[in-house]
Amino acid sequence: MTQRRSFPAARLSVFALGALAGVLCLVGPQAAPAAAPEAGNAARGAYLFAAGDCAGCHTDTKAKGAPLAGGPPMVTDFGVFFAPNITPDKTNGIGAWSAADFHRAMREGKGKKGELLYPVFPYPAFAKMTDADIADLWAYLKTVPASPQPSKPQQAKAPYGIRPLLLGWRALYFHPGPLAPVAGQSPEWNRGRYLAEAVAHCGECHSPRNNLGAIEEKSAYAGNPAGPDDQKAPNITSDPKGLGKMDMADLEELLKTGAKPDGDYVADAMALVVDGLAKLTPADRHAIAVYIKSLPARPSTPKKGPVKAG
Ligand code: HEC
Ligand code: HEC
Repeated sequence: MTQRRSFPAARLSVFALGALAGVLCLVGPQAAPAAAPEAGNAARGAYLFAAGDCAGCHTDTKAKGAPLAGGPPMVTDFGVFFAPNITPDKTNGIGAWSAADFHRAMREGKGKKGELLYPVFPYPAFAKMTDADIADLWAYLKTVPASPQPSKPQQAKAPYGIRPLLLGWRALYFHPGPLAPVAGQSPEWNRGRYLAEAVAHCGECHSPRNNLGAIEEKSAYAGNPAGPDDQKAPNITSDPKGLGKMDMADLEELLKTGAKPDGDYVADAMALVVDGLAKLTPADRHAIAVYIKSLPARPSTPKKGPVKAG
């Protein structure tokens, strides 16, 4: 597999970049990140790691790369991106990072030097995780074998190589968490929402993007015609053309095994997602299904423009 998924699936026009530059001026200094909790639980972190499909991007399985030592190329309209080495190697991985550095990367989408990370790293979703879950992930990442493999440089097309331009995008579209539970909904629904929105980032692939590359909230989960690997990520709302005809048992089976009701199996990007979801408890997969089945019906996103999501 050569590509994974969506760097915001729209081309930024020169006009849009101008707008972003304008917004840049409006953004004040950022608050210092809260100190990360000290100790996490590595076993719980491994669980979240599976649910978050971190290896799907950070391990180059096809090239038999070492776990988390750097992912395959993700080809997008904005250039070619590589998920970096996130093993505990001190020089080429994140072994020299502190817990607070990691916390900031997940919660704020910033690298060790404070540089703004590309949203091809789905930090807009991970930023909704709880402090405790981020600490658990960190505890787990420290247990994987260190690999000295250098990360590949990002090959962003001009002008996207200018990371500070992302500040404008963030000011408009980035809503850091953690995700607060919705009152009046069951704990099961809230657990499913948390797993789907913050950890498994379902909407990052299954939602269309606007011209600035941000998720169209009003059409969230209605499908992305320009999904990863040139695959359409289908509508998973309860629309008749979405999951309207799939019952709970079918959906839970799909999330566990990848089997669709018609006997076919989900492929590529979704197959990797399922590899991780298969490791979750039945209760957590059920919670995800409960939340997904509660999504209001939205018409499928029409295919528009030659947009390549990566
Ligand atoms: C869709 C692909 C994708 C997924 C899934 C993903 N990442 Fe990444 N990640 C990236 C890319 C690409 C970058 C580099 C972003 C950049 O250079 O601006 C990155 C950067 C990072 C960084 C910053 C590393 C550095 O050297 O600056 C950390 C830490 C990280 N990811 C951890 C994780 C964890 C933990 C998970 C799972 C919970 C995860 N990632 C899931 C693609 C992904
Ligand atoms: C990395 C991108 C990505 C992520 C993340 C992702 N999906 Fe998918 N999903 C896809 C793609 C692409 C397909 C189409 C696969 C195919 O046709 O074989 C798909 C297919 C599906 C299907 C089958 C729909 C149908 O009508 O056949 C369901 C259901 C689904 N995803 C639910 C989810 C849920 C729930 C999550 C989060 C827990 C999720 N997906 C996360 C990319 C993704």
